Amino acid sequence: GRQKQCSASRLECPSRAGQSCCVLEMLGGLFLSEVGEAGKGDFFLGCKGVRETFIYPFFTRGRPFPLQLLFFGMLFCIYNGFLQGYYLIYCAEYPHDWCTDIRFTSGLLLFLLGMGINIHSDLLLRQLRKPGEVTYKIPQGGLFTYVSGANYFGEIVEWFGFAIATWSLPAFAFAFFTLCCIGPRAYHHHRYYLKTFTDYPKSRKALIPFVF
Ligand SMILES: NC(=O)c1ccc[n+]([C@@H]2O[C@H](COP(=O)([O-])OP(=O)(O)OC[C@H]3O[C@@H](n4cnc5c(N)ncnc54)[C@H](OP(=O)(O)O)[C@@H]3O)[C@@H](O)[C@H]2O)c1
Repeated sequence: GRQKQCSASRLECPSRAGQSCCVLEMLGGLFLSEVGEAGKGDFFLGCKGVRETFIYPFFTRGRPFPLQLLFFGMLFCIYNGFLQGYYLIYCAEYPHDWCTDIRFTSGLLLFLLGMGINIHSDLLLRQLRKPGEVTYKIPQGGLFTYVSGANYFGEIVEWFGFAIATWSLPAFAFAFFTLCCIGPRAYHHHRYYLKTFTDYPKSRKALIPFVF
């Protein structure tokens, strides 16, 4: 996207293919870790993976994606999908009544809430452009009323929900990684908007409503 000017790579692929491949690898990694076993994390990773592999990419109006980033994204997604799936299948142990445990129920609610925010915000971003357009506009509505990185905020809430629901160290590590990876991205987007649009809403924060 708008950070692409800094990239040295000239090789690019269409944004749809890039997003699709990356998340497909996560499903692949998850599958590899679960051959012959029913996965306890399938619901969470499956929901996310199927949407981002088969639905999101077909509607995006993004700019072409550097191949170098695609390659590293795929490596990361294979490793992460495998790690999460392997840990939940072979290492984590849950009591029989885990589904009624407050950690599972509150984590599941957070996961669904975060996913709802993420999907809705991605939809609002997509509607900003007409087919073929590549310019940036001021996002409006939904959680964008409060933060510039509403889609990222949803993503972070989602993965912390997953971590709480599964109560697993790899899931917390992934949630923390997501925060460190897309938190700064939200901040840079916010600065970009403030610099580019003189009428950008001054009360809007970067990532966390009313706070940051
Ligand atoms: N879990 C993780 O670690 C992780 C990491 C990265 C991304 N993600 C998720 O993947 C999804 C996409 O991420 P992203 O970094 O590509 O998000 P993004 O920079 O916000 O862009 C999303 C799409 O909206 C377009 N867009 C963004 N701002 C716009 C504006 N002001 N006006 C018009 N169009 C605009 C972008 O076009 P351009 O391509 O032209 O910029 C792109 O097609 C998000 O849901 C994010 O949460 C997750």
